[in-house]
Amino acid sequence: MKKDSYKIVGGNKLFGEVDVQTSKNGTLPLLSACLLTSQQVVINNFPQITDVFNMLKILKKLKIKTKVKGNSLLLNPINARNIKIGCKLAKTMRSSIFFLGAMLARFKQCTIAMPGGCNIGARPIDIHIKALKRLKVRVGRSGNYLKFDATNAVAGRIKLKLPSVGATENIIQFACLLPGITTIINAAKEPEVVELCNFLNQMGAKIEGAGTGVITICGVSFLNGIQYKPSADRIVAGTLMLATAMCGGEVVIKNSNPEENKNLINKLLSIGCKIEINCDIIKITSNGELKNLTSICTGYYPDFPTDLQSMMLTACCVGCGKTIITENLFENRFLTTTELIKMGANIHQVNKNEVEVIGGKLFGAEVYAKDLRGGAALVLASLVAEGTTKVNNVHFIDRGYQQLDFVLRSLGANIRRI
Ligand code: UD1
Repeated sequence: MKKDSYKIVGGNKLFGEVDVQTSKNGTLPLLSACLLTSQQVVINNFPQITDVFNMLKILKKLKIKTKVKGNSLLLNPINARNIKIGCKLAKTMRSSIFFLGAMLARFKQCTIAMPGGCNIGARPIDIHIKALKRLKVRVGRSGNYLKFDATNAVAGRIKLKLPSVGATENIIQFACLLPGITTIINAAKEPEVVELCNFLNQMGAKIEGAGTGVITICGVSFLNGIQYKPSADRIVAGTLMLATAMCGGEVVIKNSNPEENKNLINKLLSIGCKIEINCDIIKITSNGELKNLTSICTGYYPDFPTDLQSMMLTACCVGCGKTIITENLFENRFLTTTELIKMGANIHQVNKNEVEVIGGKLFGAEVYAKDLRGGAALVLASLVAEGTTKVNNVHFIDRGYQQLDFVLRSLGANIRRI
């Protein structure tokens, strides 16, 4: 609900065991990829978050039958239709651009509203467009719409100027049904790209090199249906680790992939947390007194993830000493700092992609989530703040977290949804 808030009384330590929800960014491209087959696709244990439900709205518009059965999502794309992705649809979901590759593979043509034409933020798509043009997809503009025509597309070699996750995923989806061999140089190495490739390979695609900077896709003529369980969400696992580090306590995080959070785990060790890893289980122990980290720079996988930056910044607000945080991917990731300052945080913007944080104490206040991960950061801040905090705009948090309040309450936090 748009008006929902969290009321959080800070000060409780966290103890207990928790299962990590299924990955948001791992699941979203699998939903568009169902367009690549005419057979049924079943996603088991899907994450029950708004981004997934909004993606389902788009699939329904494309006449894909969708059904939720317990924890499974049943998708039947046999009668899929090529519908223009207009402003309204694109607004529902910022990442509707992720449909581009799959729609072009299935229908050969596709029309989508210009991201700039809608008020959906300045998320550039030049890398997606340039890559498709390299494969001889014709791209034209008509008013606020971009029109893509892949009738004469041919496989080829693409070099990305940046290892964009979305562009890599789009090209993979497009190229797996394109005759010939397509090679992506400087491909994204994120675990979610590997997930998509595993999923498509199990459907009969021929993709090699996932997880490296060079991905090769040998086009096949059709893909089969599939039943698939995506992996755990590494950002949610990271959120829970950071919450425990800040609050103090001992939490066992089950069903996660510790290797995917190696960068964060090393940082948590260096600020004084104790971490034990046993296969897919992470046990984190903290006394809540965090040592100083001098600097944090976000980057492409396996560097520190931009999606955890706001939460790490929040941990630095209650640590000791000074930390410089550099955001190398998305400048607007510092939006939450104004809200943290309301809670007493000592943060100074050094330049547009760098802030300086000096550790101290946080106090309860009324704050507003401005984006998904920044919203989660405000929840973490509230858990350690002195007094009561009201975090408004919880709908941003619902985009990616399945009942975050319930999970934290099960660990002993004093958090209520109102
Ligand atoms: C995905 C994730 C997001 C994560 C991000 C980086 C999903 C649904 N979202 O977003 O949570 O924070 O990866 O790990 O999986 N860029 C361009 N031109 C383009 C495309 C991207 O300049 O055409 C730039 C972006 O501004 C950004 C960088 O490339 O600075 C990386 O963006 P990208 O990897 O594409 O992020 P998304 O796929 O949108």
